[in-house]
Amino acid sequence: MTTLAEALATTVAHLRDAGVPSPEVDARWLVEAATGSDPRRAPDRPLAPGEQQVLDELRARRGAREPLQLVIGTAAFRELELRCRPGVFVPRPETEVLAGLAIEIVRGMQLEERALTGRPVVVHEPCCGTGAVGLAVANEIDGAVVLIADRSDAAVALATENRDLLAATGRLRSPVEVCQGELLDAFAASAHGAPHVIVANPPYLPQAEIAQLEPEVAGHDPHDALAGGPDGHEVVDALLVAAAARVAPAGIAPGGAIVLEIDARRAADTVARARSVGLVDVQVHRDLTGAERFVVARRPGPDAGHR
Ligand SMILES: C[S@@+](CC[C@H](N)C(=O)[O-])C[C@H]1O[C@@H](n2cnc3c(N)ncnc32)[C@H](O)[C@@H]1O
Repeated sequence: MTTLAEALATTVAHLRDAGVPSPEVDARWLVEAATGSDPRRAPDRPLAPGEQQVLDELRARRGAREPLQLVIGTAAFRELELRCRPGVFVPRPETEVLAGLAIEIVRGMQLEERALTGRPVVVHEPCCGTGAVGLAVANEIDGAVVLIADRSDAAVALATENRDLLAATGRLRSPVEVCQGELLDAFAASAHGAPHVIVANPPYLPQAEIAQLEPEVAGHDPHDALAGGPDGHEVVDALLVAAAARVAPAGIAPGGAIVLEIDARRAADTVARARSVGLVDVQVHRDLTGAERFVVARRPGPDAGHR
């Protein structure tokens, strides 16, 4: 009989031979997914025959460089566990920082907006994939309205499923609507009015670079989730232009905000582009590796006399 400790050691060796970047961590997840037990806590427990077969299948998939989150079917994102599925972009740890920036901004706006207009703060997340960012906002913020959207059928279906699962377990403190369509046009029929905050992790890599990425990314994330046109920043640029026109100025000083994840090599360009379309208070924030990964900008607020 193979024990969990032996299964773990075999799995680590298999993943290492396959060139998986973190074989120890991934092997632990695979053994736990196959057996329901953490091999560090129950090293001497024997594997049941059915468990061995499941582990063999999971190990073969990860060894073929399918992303861990697709193999086990879930990803941790801030306080949430989200379903993941082939055909939809796997949420990344750096994007947890993007969600945190949006959450801070929404909290800051809530007091002011409620006092001035009585309106809840409205958040739009185009390019939502699994729904990770918008669902994290709704999990951590009370009383906002969150609309998330994507143009991909698979993403919209999965985001809806994640929204429904979290709502059923009482995890959403703000309501979340899932829409489908191109960027901000997806929200055109919304009854909630202009957004106070637009937050997005859009595709932002140059098309020509996709084939050279790690096999987990190039072979499994949808091309449409990665490539932002030949130059990489076409979707980022389109969102900045749309935000300058559509993010809500009403009641808010210094105005609604756009919070974007970007290609860290393009931070200076993005700041210039944001200013050129009329956005103000443009700031760059770093990710956990220190890269200039996020840009926050505001629409100029209404002058005090017009409030
Ligand atoms: C990098 S993924 C991000 C997904 C999710 N926000 C996350 O961080 O995990 C980009 C997403 O944008 C969607 N997308 C790409 N171009 C789009 C467009 N023009 N309009 C709407 N969605 C788009 C893709 O389908 C994909 O789900």
